[in-house]
Amino acid sequence: MDENPFRKQEQLAVRIEIAKPEDWEAYKKIRLESITGKDAEMFGPKGVARDRNKSDQEWQEDLSRSENMFTVLSWSGSEVVGMGAAREKEEKRFWHMGSAYVKPEFRGGAGRKMLAFIIRKIFDRGGSKVEVGVKPGNERSMRLCKSLGFKKVGMSDGWQMLELSLADGEAIKRIQDILNAR
Ligand SMILES: CC(C)(COP(=O)(O)OP(=O)(O)OC[C@H]1O[C@@H](n2cnc3c(N)ncnc32)[C@H](O)[C@@H]1OP(=O)(O)O)[C@@H](O)C(=O)NCCC(=O)NCCS
Repeated sequence: MDENPFRKQEQLAVRIEIAKPEDWEAYKKIRLESITGKDAEMFGPKGVARDRNKSDQEWQEDLSRSENMFTVLSWSGSEVVGMGAAREKEEKRFWHMGSAYVKPEFRGGAGRKMLAFIIRKIFDRGGSKVEVGVKPGNERSMRLCKSLGFKKVGMSDGWQMLELSLADGEAIKRIQDILNAR
């Protein structure tokens, strides 16, 4: 029997969307929560330092329409409960996915669905390869990325880098199955 059916019910209700410029305050709030809370060390220090000092205008600019960069928010009603972001690297069709965060009380499947959503959007924008950087010891993220099909490709600046090729149909089928599941 489920220990906390109410929590599961809430998770099912989570809605994932690409953030719009008018969402900037909710986006700023969850990003600051992620980089100042107890999971802060799971995020890249350069991005953290930049975001701690960003002006409101810069937070808004992050969400302005762009073909090679987007942010995703997970909503439960009018509350943002998760976020993630992706940007195309200099190498065309090669995308970096990062800043993934789900509020602790919403974890347990919500992250998987959100990352699947981001990967699907990357694919829809013509992406053929996705990378993530995971801090060694972040077993939860590591396990999640591996189960999505990511493979370790080496270390960079102390981060375990993993890549997922979208070129074969297998990866995107796995992603679509996650998105189709209730
Ligand atoms: C990473 C994060 C976004 C994932 O969201 P989530 O809802 O927790 O993810 P899911 O539950 O969908 O998937 C987590 C996986 O790790 C597994 N897991 C849970 N606790 C674990 C643990 N202590 N050790 C190893 N694996 C664990 C889960 O079982 C699941 O794997 P499975 O689907 O194969 O069973 C969320 O945990 C988070 O915000 N973490 C803190 C910030 C962070 O680390 N961000 C990532 C930076 S790369």
